[in-house]
Amino acid sequence: VALSDPDLGRAEAAAEAAGARRIVADGLTLIDDPDVDAVLVASPDPTHADFVLACLARGKPVLCEKPLAPRAEDCLRVVRAELELGRRLVQVGFMRRFDPFYGHLKDTLDSGACGQPLLLHCVHRNVSAPDWFTSEMAVNNSAVHEVDIVRWLLAEEIEQVQVIRSVPKRGGLPRDPILLLLRMASGVVADVEVFIHAAYGYDIRMEAVCEEGTIDLGRPQPPSIRKALAVSDAFPADWRGRFGDAYRLQLQSWVRSLSGAPVGASAWDGYAATTVTDALVRSLQSGDAVSVTLEPRPDLYRN
Ligand SMILES: NC(=O)c1ccc[n+]([C@@H]2O[C@H](COP(=O)([O-])OP(=O)(O)OC[C@H]3O[C@@H](n4cnc5c(N)ncnc54)[C@H](O)[C@@H]3O)[C@@H](O)[C@H]2O)c1
Repeated sequence: VALSDPDLGRAEAAAEAAGARRIVADGLTLIDDPDVDAVLVASPDPTHADFVLACLARGKPVLCEKPLAPRAEDCLRVVRAELELGRRLVQVGFMRRFDPFYGHLKDTLDSGACGQPLLLHCVHRNVSAPDWFTSEMAVNNSAVHEVDIVRWLLAEEIEQVQVIRSVPKRGGLPRDPILLLLRMASGVVADVEVFIHAAYGYDIRMEAVCEEGTIDLGRPQPPSIRKALAVSDAFPADWRGRFGDAYRLQLQSWVRSLSGAPVGASAWDGYAATTVTDALVRSLQSGDAVSVTLEPRPDLYRN
């Protein structure tokens, strides 16, 4: 129906692709539009919370890109506004929950086929990032996906985190790559390598180590080429190549949920994930282990 972006050139290109009839420069005008029934927020991270709060004030469902906000205090403002409303209208775009590969890994974990999980090994590698991307953003913009998926897969909260720095790559961020340690309430530990300037491709991996076996995440397999005494296959340049199906499935589920029960990550999940990344940013600065303390989870967010 309508599309908003202060960069009108980008707005026009996106409106044409999406078939939107109206372009407005200000997101709040779009949210106010009586023809707009539901809103998708995909503007830069620091703008998310205020747009989501405006949607809640008008009773409009909103799918907000991750993170719900870069700081937990802003996520909490959203949670409190939703609690006041008394019903869930916010979904956070943690689209990995809709990825068939993560879905299969979760089903296998939940089936108990390999026994109880003991450890998760996770890898998050990007080709590179723009100049304005900071080491803190490697945590609260990129690693927030890992935080959410680990919480979702294990269905428990992260209680303690620590960031371990390695030798920084020349020409990259001052702290890149980094290793994150996430200790769950049960004592299970997840380690996450985050390498923003890995150069060779967008590569997301996970292996769950369980009591009786391991479960590997896998990935969409491109054709493998055997040539000149070598075998090779391609990596996507970014998340679109790896998670295209997840984005589509997330959007379809969200649209269907508008006339039914909420699906996907809630505002509470957005708050919990950012509380963990806030703690990780503190650990990035100090090198120390940092405890994660969440507010008590309200009934609205119990499944
Ligand atoms: N789920 C995922 O895997 C995933 C992947 C990429 C990006 N994201 C998230 O999506 C959001 C957008 O990322 P991107 O890579 O498309 O960024 P981008 O910089 O390419 O695009 C952001 C757009 O927002 C516009 N904008 C800036 N301020 C605005 C405002 N106040 N109101 C409305 N529009 C505004 C900009 O003009 C730009 O066109 C971010 O929150 C990012 O974290 C999520």
